[in-house]
Amino acid sequence: MDEQGVREMIGGASRIVGFTGAGISTESGVPDFRSPDGVWARNRTVDFQEFVSSESGRVEYWRQKAAAWPAMRDAKPNAGHYAFVELHRQGRLPALITQNIERLHQRSGLPAASVLELHGTTTEAVCLTCGDRITSDEACRRIEAGERAPRCRACGGLLKPATISFGQAMPLDVMARAQAAAETCDLLLAAGSSLVVEPAASIPRAAKAAGAHLVIVNREPTPLDGIADGVVRGEIGVVLPAMVAAGG
Ligand code: APR
Repeated sequence: MDEQGVREMIGGASRIVGFTGAGISTESGVPDFRSPDGVWARNRTVDFQEFVSSESGRVEYWRQKAAAWPAMRDAKPNAGHYAFVELHRQGRLPALITQNIERLHQRSGLPAASVLELHGTTTEAVCLTCGDRITSDEACRRIEAGERAPRCRACGGLLKPATISFGQAMPLDVMARAQAAAETCDLLLAAGSSLVVEPAASIPRAAKAAGAHLVIVNREPTPLDGIADGVVRGEIGVVLPAMVAAGG
């Protein structure tokens, strides 16, 4: 299907659920994970098991997070984020499911209640024992002051960025809401994800299985391109605004 066909399909949809990955934020200066200059090209992964069992693992994990935080904190939403805001303004975006952790969707103006963060957020750190939270700015200040793997000041537990690491349990309530949104939409619009990480990538499949159209906008091919009704190759900030302007 060509771009015009995809534009018409989006224009004819009344209940669109967005599904985004790190690729929607690269034009805001936030690196994605699997592009040649992405996070995993420069950092080893520290999974949840290593984080909870190894002080050196925690130090490395926090080093990576503290290094990445200023660009995320200072990033501004881009035209790709605002394309989803336009769908919300048209009353056609009941939910936006994201794997992203920097909250650019909320900062672009989407109501926080409609943004489902499958992988949590890096804007805060949370104690794995008592649940106490501090801001990431506070955590980074403490790291700069020499506390290389900050501990909870309330109970002494391990503080971790409030993201979901590999091997860490997904937020079941958020997953359930995302699954329900995917199964009741008439079009799932996936943008900026390689769609290789599970269980997140099961959400677009669930939408398709429930009868929705699936549109994928991404610079590179994804494993779900074969089941998609429309695939658009291009820079999200360029192609997405034109695709949502027509409808509504
Ligand atoms: N326009 C279009 N596509 C883009 C752009 C852009 N401006 N920038 C990057 N992309 C594409 C890349 O080609 C890539 O296919 O976006 C995709 C981003 O894929 P990943 O880097 O794998 O990011 P994501 O899919 O969000 O990763 C999922 O993996 O490491 C974990 O928890 C992390 O949430 C993350 C999850």
